Amino acid sequence: MIVGVPKEIKQDENRVAIVPPGVAAFVHHGHSVLVESGAGLGSGIPDAAYRAAGARIVKRAASIWERAGMVIKVKEPLGDELTMMREGQILYTYLHLASNEKLTRALMRHKVAAVAYETVQLDDGSLPLLTPMSEVAGRLAVQKGAQCLEAGSGGRGVLLSGVSGVKPAHVVILGAGVAGSNACPIAVGMGAQVTVIDLNPVRLRYLNDIMRGRITTLMSNTANIAEEVAQADLVIGAVLITGARAPRLITRGLLKRMRAGSVVVDVAIDQGGCIETSRPTTHSAPTFRVDDVVHYCVANMPGAVPRTATYALTNVTLGHGLEIADNGIEEAVAQDPALRKGLNTFGGRVTCRPVAEAFGMDCAEV
Ligand SMILES: NC(=O)c1ccc[n+]([C@@H]2O[C@H](COP(=O)([O-])OP(=O)(O)OC[C@H]3O[C@@H](n4cnc5c(N)ncnc54)[C@H](O)[C@@H]3O)[C@@H](O)[C@H]2O)c1
Repeated sequence: MIVGVPKEIKQDENRVAIVPPGVAAFVHHGHSVLVESGAGLGSGIPDAAYRAAGARIVKRAASIWERAGMVIKVKEPLGDELTMMREGQILYTYLHLASNEKLTRALMRHKVAAVAYETVQLDDGSLPLLTPMSEVAGRLAVQKGAQCLEAGSGGRGVLLSGVSGVKPAHVVILGAGVAGSNACPIAVGMGAQVTVIDLNPVRLRYLNDIMRGRITTLMSNTANIAEEVAQADLVIGAVLITGARAPRLITRGLLKRMRAGSVVVDVAIDQGGCIETSRPTTHSAPTFRVDDVVHYCVANMPGAVPRTATYALTNVTLGHGLEIADNGIEEAVAQDPALRKGLNTFGGRVTCRPVAEAFGMDCAEV
């Protein structure tokens, strides 16, 4: 199969869908790989590294879309890409179709076999192609929160670790899932005093165990959240109810009780945010203030660290990519139920139930 990797065109998107060892793996399996010139530069990967791994470097994105049997990307197709998709072509990327009817209809019209990273799902309900981005966002949340607490960023002027004779910062993490449990050891490692709040006692027990008593874990309820948030220097919002809008755990009233210059990093902003006053921001203008509380609400946090994020993403996308290239899409989804859940459109029909339900369409079997 010819596998094509165009340069991402979404604003602030510096990740790329394949790294040189991935190219080498496709070539080793007998496939050819076309990479658009400059596709890896945002992640620090020059054309020469792809060429050395066996890729052919192509000047124009159009010739990739024309020739590739499978196009591998990071973000959904946009602009000209929407018109270059071809009937029967396989598209393997993040899509988030349930909130994008226009794109869903374009994929149906072009009869694209679209596999969405975010809906590939294992039997235990986990989403293996989404997890690494939550790991990145959770760890980054502490780093960004620490910067926002500096006086120059409008924060309280508090050092996360404190110093001898001076208290450390109080960090409250809402949600002990992938993002929250990745934020936790970074905050502890930086010397903060950390409280983690979740609804799920299993998650709290797990964090309590691995952190060996160096954090406080609390059951999520209105009283615990109010008491902790009002005393926090930094709150990290990392809750998720799969498939639903994030629950609003910090109301405007509670925000008003927070200390001037304290910081909220709402990681859950991509699901609507868990703080009433949150709205999505970008890497070029990441923060705003409401009631003297600094809000950091960047919806694609991994974009700040594209080198790490590219390798984390491609570590988990390569295996399924090879399955598709080796077997063709129909055979690959027949053999792998997790990948079947990733197939969102095929032959002009929607094949993913939540997407079909979002738009009142029929869901086709494959
Ligand atoms: N902004 C970004 O760039 C970015 C990047 C990656 C992930 N995310 C988002 O981060 C959020 C967390 O993702 P994740 O992978 O860690 O999810 P996860 O499912 O692993 O964890 C979510 C946790 O929230 C807990 N929870 C749900 N309702 C709660 C409540 N009312 N009180 C306390 N805890 C509650 C769950 O029990 C679970 O432990 C998601 O919204 C995800 O989309 C954002």
